[in-house]
Amino acid sequence: TVGDADAGKKVYNKCRACHAVGEGAKNKVGPELNGIIGEKPGSIEDYKYSAGFEEWAADKTAWNEALMTEWLADPRAVVKGTKMAFPGLKKPEDLTNVIAYLASFDAE
Ligand code: HEM
Repeated sequence: TVGDADAGKKVYNKCRACHAVGEGAKNKVGPELNGIIGEKPGSIEDYKYSAGFEEWAADKTAWNEALMTEWLADPRAVVKGTKMAFPGLKKPEDLTNVIAYLASFDAE
């Protein structure tokens, strides 16, 4: 599926209190997300993940659309003990669109 990055930018308003993207993005409450699609989960430099997330991420090789969709739909069901305090995105189009938006930022 191909999401709409412009529509996804609006969805990302639900994320930006905790996550930065774009030029000069720094870790906040959550890790910065430049280049996150294709990256190994749990690998952002200088970010302290929860033990639950680290355990879950250990055998994951890369964030792809399928894994990201699962995670963002219900983070606390996917990763027991995650500290990402977010209930999840329930609309399928919000999921595909926000993932398209994330995919528009390369790793810096
Ligand atoms: C982790 C995306 C909303 C706080 C993550 C990760 C992704 C992500 C992809 C894993 C990153 C990695 O593997 O390095 C998003 C998106 C959001 C969102 C797209 C909106 C739809 C939020 C909100 C908060 C938050 C609102 C704060 C209230 C965190 C934290 C982690 C995290 C603390 C680390 C999880 C842990 O160590 O257990 N997020 N997030 N996120 N996010 Fe979010």
